[in-house]
Amino acid sequence: MAHKILLLKGDGIGPEIVAATLVVLGTLRERFGLALEIEEALMGGCAVDVHGEPLPDSTLALARAADAILLGAVGGPKWERIERDKRPERGLLKLRSALDLFCNLRPAAVHTALADASTLRPEVVSGLDILIVRELTGDIYFGQPRGIEIDADGQRVGRNTMIYTEAEIRRVAHAAFRTALKRARRLCSVDKANVLETTELWRDVVTEVGRDYPEVELSHLYVDNAAMQLVRAPKQFDVIVTGNIFGDILSDLASMLTGSIGMLPSASLNADGKGMFEPIHGSAPDIAGQDKANPLATILSAAMMLRYALNEPVQATRIEQAVTTVLDGGLRTADIQAAGGPVIGTREMGAAVAAALR
Ligand code: IPM
Ligand code: MG
Repeated sequence: MAHKILLLKGDGIGPEIVAATLVVLGTLRERFGLALEIEEALMGGCAVDVHGEPLPDSTLALARAADAILLGAVGGPKWERIERDKRPERGLLKLRSALDLFCNLRPAAVHTALADASTLRPEVVSGLDILIVRELTGDIYFGQPRGIEIDADGQRVGRNTMIYTEAEIRRVAHAAFRTALKRARRLCSVDKANVLETTELWRDVVTEVGRDYPEVELSHLYVDNAAMQLVRAPKQFDVIVTGNIFGDILSDLASMLTGSIGMLPSASLNADGKGMFEPIHGSAPDIAGQDKANPLATILSAAMMLRYALNEPVQATRIEQAVTTVLDGGLRTADIQAAGGPVIGTREMGAAVAAALR
């Protein structure tokens, strides 16, 4: 049976990087028998323009019916000043929440050929292979109460609520331990337990869950120290598990260890293994429509989709190996090129990966 994929191209560079990824998936379909049924829908600013809201019900219904969702990127200056509930990012957050995609996997691995593209010295990052497991449907992103109000003195007060239930912590902790079991069996939980009660609970629950996984070496770091360690000696990490807001920040940081945020894919999974797959970078409005964006994060997100949601590990490996071949061959988009070298565009990079599939 064909896998049902919902494509959400989104805004900015979204349509270009998804188009390049479709060329790769199309080749897997034609040459390697991958059975896909692909539908498309609007989400983000493009949906605001057409339907007046970032996540129309029709898109949500298609998302629920699909086996997996592949997303480009959402947002841009055009929608920054509209009513908060209608902003593109809200569509993304609502989709994550509606599908209960609590488990966000963000790998940060350095391709050998790109060790020089990092701003850190090659010996600090070469061989790096970190996986950040970010909780994605709780924390200060969704906590109530929230908003901007006027207080008794007539001044504006902004408020958000950092909140986690133990059930929310427990399920993502289990997912992280299970992931660590398949890797180097080291898990570092990141919190701010010295200051924030929410994360004191986080530390307690992760420690309790850890008793079920004696094979995994569990450690804890405060988030400030974790940020420092990630830059100082990133190779000490295997799997990192953390809450929504810390995971947002640390995953951008970790991405730069690899040379470019344009390289990093992600998977957002629910308890049934259903998921949404997207590059961790944004919609890059400054380069949109110019055939400059690096499509590799999206192409690698499609590989994660094949592996995690569609049970097609062989096809996933084909994509990952093709990306390595292309990078080893020296092809570079602007974001991963050392100063002055020749660069290729989005389309050419997609075509090169498709051609390298074996
Ligand atoms: C990410 C992004 C999103 C987030 C934004 C676009 C809402 O930064 O996926 O990391 O904060 O989760
Ligand atoms: Mg982010």
